[in-house]
Amino acid sequence: MNANSFPTRDQVKDAAAYVRQSTHHRPTVGLILGSGLSPLAESIEGADFLPYTSIPHFPTSTVAGHAGRLVLGTMEGRPVMAMQGRVHFYEGYAIQQVTFPVRVMGLLGADTLIVTNAAGGLAQRFAPGDLMLIRDHINLIGLAGHNPLIGPNDPDFGPRFPDMAMAYDPALREIARQVASAQGLALHEGVYVCISGPSFETPMEVGFLRIIGADAVGMSTAHEVIVARHMGIRVLGISGITNVHSFDTSQPQETSHQEVLETGQVIAPRLTALIRGILKQL
Ligand code: HPA
Repeated sequence: MNANSFPTRDQVKDAAAYVRQSTHHRPTVGLILGSGLSPLAESIEGADFLPYTSIPHFPTSTVAGHAGRLVLGTMEGRPVMAMQGRVHFYEGYAIQQVTFPVRVMGLLGADTLIVTNAAGGLAQRFAPGDLMLIRDHINLIGLAGHNPLIGPNDPDFGPRFPDMAMAYDPALREIARQVASAQGLALHEGVYVCISGPSFETPMEVGFLRIIGADAVGMSTAHEVIVARHMGIRVLGISGITNVHSFDTSQPQETSHQEVLETGQVIAPRLTALIRGILKQL
């Protein structure tokens, strides 16, 4: 990667200006919808749809299950901006490009980001279809040298060395717990580990991820959260557990993208209800 891969403030401004002129909505809440979770955007009212391909400098998603458009409107009376699909590091983008949309959300005035993903369950207590509130993450891609803040720091965005002690906002997590409880919805809480993919984990990698303390594994989210926190945006993260990895290395569990998408369909209505409930409380 060379310096040209780092998105500039001007590019982020261009993209934000385009979005602003394309809709009258002025969203304060950003939503990122993971694999199979796009249906959530269907409950956005008065929606304007902006394909990523129409937004200057926006990275475009190449993966099945990721629609690739920004949906702006209201949900429970809150002005929201949802990413129906995201791009991933494994598509070949620099991690700074992958997180470009979060910068745009920040410049557009989002002060809250609700980030969702499909994830593989590592904790024994999980079953496919479960929801997990993200308490913390382990950013394996970042620890391996692909932190999204590598490169020149723009102090107007945030500090050179942002703190990550409370990356997942404790007050928002408490709201999520209360809403889930009121809805009679089981909500686990745990640690999300971000790997690059696109290959799924080997049985020994699954064992390794458990040892380091992860409860769910996926290919997104952590870098988006880092960029959001860099900009002072508060974050709530929710994983939809689409598959659960085997505990028996002699009987490894196979994983497929199809399975991830299918379980995502089952999760989407419950996740929609949860997020609606949370938006009401904001
Ligand atoms: N591993 C990595 N990413 C995933 C998985 C998984 O098992 N399931 C959904 N996304």
